[in-house]
Amino acid sequence: MTFERGTATVRVKVWDLLQRALHWSLVASIALCWWAGEARLSLHIAFGWAALAIVASRGAWGFVGSRYARFSGFVAGARTVLGYTCDLLRGRERRYLGHNPLGGWMVVALLVCVAFVCITGILYTTDHFWGMAWVEIAHRASAWTVVALAALHLAGVAFTSWRHRENLVAAMLSGCKKADDAGGGKA
Ligand code: HEM
Ligand code: HEM
Repeated sequence: MTFERGTATVRVKVWDLLQRALHWSLVASIALCWWAGEARLSLHIAFGWAALAIVASRGAWGFVGSRYARFSGFVAGARTVLGYTCDLLRGRERRYLGHNPLGGWMVVALLVCVAFVCITGILYTTDHFWGMAWVEIAHRASAWTVVALAALHLAGVAFTSWRHRENLVAAMLSGCKKADDAGGGKA
């Protein structure tokens, strides 16, 4: 926990180092996959394998990682998600220190979708599936789904940052967030 001089804002560590490193390297590996495309296929495949390794590590970290990294802390049940969504629509949703219930499911969706893209990509490189139209379609369609989810993810990050007057991107870099609001949600 750190204290900012003068403002008396208490800041707490929320995202651990591995979580942040995995997040930004996942973003980089996906961007590089996209950049490499079919034109630089061997690079594309290498970055794709890196993305899969990152997703697998984040998945494992979701069971053994620090408090806010664990799935059990942010994958909420239907009732909580519905309640949060209704509060959001009425403009009175509470602040969460970790992922909010909608954000938590977005995290799961992003991880599953990236894993699916990578698995279909790997299948496509095998002798058995090489050239099969449905594998190629599944790979491309899921890659575009990742793009759509990432756009929604960014919209959610921007909206929540605005609602709670807090720069969540900076928090994903530093790991720290303000500790007010009665302990900060499902903290
Ligand atoms: C281990 C992981 C991956 C492997 C083995 C892989 C493999 C491939 C292969 C073999 C192709 C060429 C398909 C063809 O000939 O039409 C391809 C295309 C493509 N992949 Fe992947 N890929 C992987 C991960 C990813 C990821 C993470 C993304 C993005 C989220 C992605 C997005 C695409 C796209 C958009 C294309 C079409 C490229 C173009 O039209 O230039 N791939 N991938
Ligand atoms: C393909 C692109 C992206 C993917 C697959 C992705 C995936 C993820 C995942 C899996 C998490 C959860 C992190 C964890 O709990 O360990 C997350 C959180 C987060 N991401 Fe991304 N991300 C992407 C792009 C971005 C970009 C471009 C930014 C900002 C410029 C960003 C900002 C954030 C922030 C601020 C959080 C924390 C959200 C919160 O406070 O609840 N992401 N992202």
